[in-house]
Amino acid sequence: MSATAKTRFEPTEIAPDTFIVHNHHGEGEGPVSVGLNAMVIRAAQPVVVDTGMAENRDQFLADVFSLVDPEDVRWLFISHDDVDHTGNVNALMAAAPNATLVVSWFMAERMGQSLAVHPGRQRWMGDGQGLDVGDRTLRTVRPPVFDSPTTRGLYDPTTGVYWSSDGFAAPMPVPVTHARDLDEAGWLEGINTFDRYISPWLELVDDRRFQATVDRVEALAPTVIAGCHAPAITGSARIAAALAATRRSPAAVVEAQPDQAVLEQIQLALDGVAA
Ligand SMILES: [Fe+2]
Ligand SMILES: [Fe+2]
Repeated sequence: MSATAKTRFEPTEIAPDTFIVHNHHGEGEGPVSVGLNAMVIRAAQPVVVDTGMAENRDQFLADVFSLVDPEDVRWLFISHDDVDHTGNVNALMAAAPNATLVVSWFMAERMGQSLAVHPGRQRWMGDGQGLDVGDRTLRTVRPPVFDSPTTRGLYDPTTGVYWSSDGFAAPMPVPVTHARDLDEAGWLEGINTFDRYISPWLELVDDRRFQATVDRVEALAPTVIAGCHAPAITGSARIAAALAATRRSPAAVVEAQPDQAVLEQIQLALDGVAA
């Protein structure tokens, strides 16, 4: 494994008072790396969206609190209950005394004892609902591709930013903040691969009904698509390309996942002896 220093990205402003808090995994270890982003919306009532991995806690909290004071965080919205989105829920809620955690009944159930936030500090929201944050009403919109039954994306009608959770994700040959910095063809293939890996059920879906879920996101006319594992998708051409790639994912032919033979190569590289 390489000892390459991890690339550090300061939070980037993707729309007025809307920031991606960056992290990524895999740099120096594999041929690609994968984003592990969160988002901050400095609305009248500031909102944090997802919380990244526990292993990045100190940097995550420092980045978030460089954008909004802990006492001012009013909402913490979690898109679904996977560890790369919930890693710092308890820590952020402990540090932000005025925050309400926006989850759902099923999310709270699935997190069980690992969720250390009193029900009095929770709000439960499903898909297609509104969250009034003082100067705008954010809307939950489930992305077309997801890997947890609890997934809801989040659309901000003031800026046009759509938080896609695990949707529109793609691996990165080198860590970047924006999709425009990636070769377009490879990035779009990456969306297909990511979609099929996280949602193998895509090959089972009724295509007409699947396309309607992409239509729903397209109808938002997002100005930016931001997601946990997506470099920020900006500009009408790249957004249209990402939507079109997602439409192709159920039928796309993608590379097989690394198997036992690959693991044995890794083991050999590590200690010269296959397990
Ligand atoms: Fe997930
Ligand atoms: Fe994820």
